[in-house]
Amino acid sequence: MRNIALSYSQKLLKGISVLYIPAMANSKYEYVRKYETDDRLLPNCWLIVRIDGKGFHKFAEKHKFKKPNDNRALELMNKAASSVMEEFKEIILAYGQSDEYSFLFRKDMELYNRRASKIMTCVCSLFSSSYVFHWPRLMVPTKLRYPPAFDARVILYPNNQTIKDYLIWRQVDCHINNLYNTTFWNLVDKGGLTNDEAEKRLRGTVSSDKNEILYSAFGINYNNEPLMFKKGTILLRKRLLHGDSANSKIVIMPVHEDFIKDAFWAEHSEILSMSKPGTYKWPS
Ligand code: GTP
Ligand code: MG
Repeated sequence: MRNIALSYSQKLLKGISVLYIPAMANSKYEYVRKYETDDRLLPNCWLIVRIDGKGFHKFAEKHKFKKPNDNRALELMNKAASSVMEEFKEIILAYGQSDEYSFLFRKDMELYNRRASKIMTCVCSLFSSSYVFHWPRLMVPTKLRYPPAFDARVILYPNNQTIKDYLIWRQVDCHINNLYNTTFWNLVDKGGLTNDEAEKRLRGTVSSDKNEILYSAFGINYNNEPLMFKKGTILLRKRLLHGDSANSKIVIMPVHEDFIKDAFWAEHSEILSMSKPGTYKWPS
């Protein structure tokens, strides 16, 4: 019989134990490490990591998401984002709408020496795996047909004003898209228009026109639409008080408030001051 040398993986497959020889430190190959670039983020800047579903237009179609908003899919996004916040305590706030989530990190954080790719990829992969992990429980009875993917980016903001404007920008985007989509799908589903006809009907309209169409044609007062659809979801870290303060715990709390209002920043002043989580008293 010929003496055939087995590869490492072949030996593993055959159940043959092999000696593990650790790579020698300072080997002649070590120099390749120098090709790794330093991507440390500037100090003392607010840091946003935003993830966004890849091709979610198709993903939503394939999984028959309710149009224009699927409550279960949005709650699944919220759950995946909460998992990320539980793992990374440096995240002060997260904001999500549609297939995207933004995570705001404290500006003084030193996680992974502020290395951009390490922070971004850890957030993105934990979000993706949590999305898949919680799918079976939250998306009943819809089965996951293929693995979803999310892209990610890191953005630095130099001061409080720019971070506020960033969050307002994403919330305004939510409002504009939701008003358009709500009107569009009512025109199609209840008004009997084709997609093309509905698109033409809405071309050139402003917000008040869409509110008027919803009210006069379908009896819908847009103000009464669910807050999560209109404003997206803000996740905050809060100390939840049960009765007396001795009985409290830190929780991640979803709220649907307006970034554009000063009252939001006053009520949750711990965000920009980076102080301990604010308190929330459970209604008795
Ligand atoms: P890329 O992000 O560029 O890969 O494209 P995308 O297809 O993900 O589009 P984009 O991120 O711009 O928009 C998100 C899309 O996800 C929306 O246009 C919807 O088609 C879909 N989507 C997100 N949430 C829902 C939902 O609750 N219901 C339905 N029906 N669709 C949703
Ligand atoms: Mg997307």
